[in-house]
Amino acid sequence: MGESIRQRKEEVAALRLGIDLGLTLIDTAEMYGDGVAEEIVAEAVEGRRDACFIVSKVLPENSTRAGTIAACERSLRRLKTDRIDLYLLHWRGRPRLEETLSGFEALSDAGTIRYWGVSNFDVQDMGELYALKRGPVCVTDQVLYNLRRRGIEAGLLPWCRDRRIPIMAYSPIEQGRLLRDRVLTAVAIRHRATTAQIALAWALRQPDIMVIPKAATLAHVRENRAALDIRLTDQDLAELDRTFPPPKRRGPLEML
Ligand SMILES: NC(=O)c1ccc[n+]([C@@H]2O[C@H](COP(=O)([O-])OP(=O)(O)OC[C@H]3O[C@@H](n4cnc5c(N)ncnc54)[C@H](OP(=O)(O)O)[C@@H]3O)[C@@H](O)[C@H]2O)c1
Repeated sequence: MGESIRQRKEEVAALRLGIDLGLTLIDTAEMYGDGVAEEIVAEAVEGRRDACFIVSKVLPENSTRAGTIAACERSLRRLKTDRIDLYLLHWRGRPRLEETLSGFEALSDAGTIRYWGVSNFDVQDMGELYALKRGPVCVTDQVLYNLRRRGIEAGLLPWCRDRRIPIMAYSPIEQGRLLRDRVLTAVAIRHRATTAQIALAWALRQPDIMVIPKAATLAHVRENRAALDIRLTDQDLAELDRTFPPPKRRGPLEML
């Protein structure tokens, strides 16, 4: 969102409809649309800020202690709010993790952020994070996860599960590339649902996984909300496993 001025109205309307339907967690980042996505979120949550849970992210290049604090303040101005509910390091960069965590701690102490976490961290990064004094305060790892990108099941997901860290699955419908799959279509027909809904329901059947689909089309927002009510059967899951098999061994974390 925030990448084309022509779509702004539609994007705000989609976020507002999402809030109406209870989709109140909104994921954004200083990077998206060079800050414009955060301005769109501000417009969408106006008058309803307290009902929403806003997630934003600091770019690695800004993630020194002082840089993290300054980036957060810029985000707050664009978001027109006094706090970010969850603030993530977008991916690992050059600054030492201690630096970023020190920035997160200062922001938490000031009440400027409520929680912090990371994104695109693989098992080794999480291990390094957890070895730090403040590391276990991390509340989530936001990573690429969908039927076609199941790599985390062989390493990161169990690692996080053991420590009760929920995963935020980004690109849960593979940016639309999953939608025409034949097996997904067959499962969708059985549920009188769409393929996007089945892809979302597949990830959401796991209670410690949340999904953050991007939808700027009102019909997509409605569909995505309804995906929360779909329960996949053992037969559905077995068919999906045959077409999108779980990983046999651990590989590097994929990113988009
Ligand atoms: N942490 C990271 O590094 C990272 C990286 C990538 C993404 N993300 C986050 O994850 C969010 C989602 O990821 P994404 O945008 O890459 O991929 P995505 O959510 O898998 O796909 C978005 C695309 O799917 C379409 N769509 C949404 N719901 C649909 C439905 N029910 N039926 C058919 N099409 C549907 C959208 O169209 P319309 O817009 O027209 O509705 C859009 O073109 C992003 O907005 C961002 O917040 C994080």
